[in-house]
Parts: sequence; C-alpha cells; structure tokens
Amino acid sequence: MTSCKMKYLSKSPQETFELGFEIGRLLTIGHVLCLEGEMGGGKTALSQAVLQGLGVSGYITSPTYSIVNEYEVDGKKLYHFDIYRVESAEELYDIGFDDYLKSSIVIIEWPQIIREHLKGPVIDIEIIKTGAEGERVIHLKGPCGIIQKLKEKFGEKGIKI
Ligand SMILES: Nc1ncnc2c1ncn2[C@@H]1O[C@H](COP(=O)(O)OP(=O)(O)OP(=O)(O)O)[C@@H](O)[C@H]1O
Ligand SMILES: [Mg+2]
Repeated sequence: MTSCKMKYLSKSPQETFELGFEIGRLLTIGHVLCLEGEMGGGKTALSQAVLQGLGVSGYITSPTYSIVNEYEVDGKKLYHFDIYRVESAEELYDIGFDDYLKSSIVIIEWPQIIREHLKGPVIDIEIIKTGAEGERVIHLKGPCGIIQKLKEKFGEKGIKI
C-alpha cells in the first residue's frame, strides 16, 4: 500500500489535541496508530485526543503501568497500548497481542519492538520537541486517504514547518 506523509507544527497542547481529535474521527476498524518520540513528547496527550475523536468520553489514563487500556464505543473495540516496559515482541504475543489486533482500532506508544510485525494500514507518528516551550513537530506517515484529509483540514499548518 502506498503511504503519504505530512508534518504538523503544534505550538501548544491544544493544537496537538486538535490534530489527534481529527485523526480519531478518521480511523476505522483495522487501523493501527504507532506513536514514537521521546519521553514527555506528547504521545499520551495525542492518544487521549485520538480516543476522544473516536468517541471515548470521560478521563483517559496513560497505559504506562497497565500496558493496555481498553475502550468500547458503539460496539467498536479500542485498545491503547504503552509497551515501553515490554522487552520483546515475543513477550507481547504472550499476552495475546494478536487477538487485540482483530476487529479493533489499536494505538501503540513506544511501538519499536513490534513495528516490523504489523501488517495492514498503519499510521506512523513521531513527535519531536523543537526546544521551544510547548512546541512539537509531528511527523505523520500513513494511508494517503487519511493523510490527504488531514492536509485538507489543517491546510498550510499541516505541511509548513
Ligand atoms: N505542543 C504540545 N503537544 C503535546 N504536549 C505538549 C505540548 N506542549 C507541551 N506539552 C506537554 O508535554 C507533556 C506530554 O506528556 P505525555 O504524557 O503526553 O508524553 P508521552 O510522550 O506520552 O510520554 P511517555 O514517553 O512518558 O509516555 C504534557 O505535560 C503536555 O502538556
Ligand atoms: Mg505516554
């Protein structure tokens, strides 16, 4: 599958929220969202926005300690993973990772150990701290249909750095 790319310049947590919420509105069953970037970059902040865009209401916690948090909206299963503390793909398969991927939408923080095993439509996101207070550059790569819609929504902001 050909993939498309974009960059998004976020100048505040609110601007990251706006991107995440829109991504959530565009995700459908089978999509996997991978979130890379340094600690405190905003992977959980973006995930929370994505989940809200998918329709989750109420407080959304970080899965840092639980490894995975589960949600269900209108019969859709949503899984939010943080696999920072998981050491190998094998260990992840031991907790039934394959089953989580079936008929669901999956978000993964720190996806590096599993990334090469993922098939199907994956949206790869990397969040980079620019050094300026509250600012992040967010690199996105994924199915062109989704990237194109994000570019239409955010216009120049989505592509200009
Ligand atoms: N533009 C921005 N976008 C997102 N978060 C921002 C931005 N500016 C500042 N922040 C702050 O950065 C922090 C991001 O924390 P978050 O827990 O989302 O990071 P993380 O990448 O999930 O970290 P970890 O690797 O520990 O899981 C929050 O405190 C948030 O308010
Ligand atoms: Mg996090």
